[in-house]
Amino acid sequence: MSGLQQDAVSRYLAWAKLHSNARFNLAVSGVLDYPLPELPVRIDDLEIGGTGPYGYKPLTERLAAKSGVPEECVVSTLGTSMANYIALTALVRRGDEVLVERPTYDPLLTILDHIGAKVNRFERRAEKGFRLGLGELERNLTPETRLVVLCNLHNPSSAFTDDNTMRQVGEMAAKVGARVLVDEVYLETLFDQPWRSAFHLGPNFVITSSLTKAYGLSGIRCGWILAQPELVQRMWQVVDFTYGSPVHPAELLGVIALDNLNRVRDRARALLEPNRALVNEFLSGHAELDCEPSRFGTTVFPRLKTGSADDFVALLREQFETSVVPGDFFERPQHFRIGFCGATETVRVGLERLGAALGAFRKLSR
Ligand SMILES: Cc1ncc(COP(=O)(O)O)c(C=O)c1O
Repeated sequence: MSGLQQDAVSRYLAWAKLHSNARFNLAVSGVLDYPLPELPVRIDDLEIGGTGPYGYKPLTERLAAKSGVPEECVVSTLGTSMANYIALTALVRRGDEVLVERPTYDPLLTILDHIGAKVNRFERRAEKGFRLGLGELERNLTPETRLVVLCNLHNPSSAFTDDNTMRQVGEMAAKVGARVLVDEVYLETLFDQPWRSAFHLGPNFVITSSLTKAYGLSGIRCGWILAQPELVQRMWQVVDFTYGSPVHPAELLGVIALDNLNRVRDRARALLEPNRALVNEFLSGHAELDCEPSRFGTTVFPRLKTGSADDFVALLREQFETSVVPGDFFERPQHFRIGFCGATETVRVGLERLGAALGAFRKLSR
């Protein structure tokens, strides 16, 4: 007996950290790292300590202004990962019923497992482009549901849920007394459409997000939760489980990044536009794959029509030095996730290799 509690393990994150890397890495979902020298940071701007007890005011003020919410509705976190952990721990108790979309981002399920929640699921259908189906969701809400958990954009498909649909989700949940947690980390990639956080759609929405995915700023871990003030109080108490004093240099870098977000956004948009065109050209030329063209986000989630997708992903990796995320991590083993947010040349060659691997796989399967 090791005495270690082994139940709640994110198989996906362990794989992503240990095994996803490849010469042509299409397993990523966050925009290529922003070059630090292009942010106006001087070492003199950084300090080891000097923050407030519950949030660094210049940071929480900027996060509140960015989202158009009162400052007492903001908890600053280290990335969306910590935001999800804090929010779920504050909102859910052992035995509470929680309704989660399928497919979903695996750590959300792992955290709920760790808390001891009773998890129910509703499906997002591949044949409907993984768009959120209100009927599916409503059929699976029960009088016991305490929380609905969604991602917008959806991971792995990048499907977008508009305000009107999201508002109806909030109303359905409110009827049974449930809240709605929306992980909006990929919503920040909607550079060309005006969008607002679902926080504005009703008091039962709780939002988690960060600057990590859309801006290439994962390493500075600038994340946040938006929630009603009484929940924010509780969430700061949960933050106490994780640190006494925060990573102040990261808070300072977060402030600098937020003050320069326009230039960071322009660089991300300039990277994603040609990459999206490449992925769409690739999808339209490969009838072996079933997938709508990409309109949003940083990933697509095609279905391999024939043969084992797991075998295909292994061949792609072993013979073509290219990685994608196996659909098994998203409970859809016939799919795989392609991320097109790396350097354009990597995406171009990675897609070429994906095409060559599809050809080789077809021959092998004959
Ligand atoms: C839906 C979703 N939420 C959160 C995260 C983690 O975000 P962060 O890097 O901000 O911690 C990811 C990372 O892949 C994600 O896909």
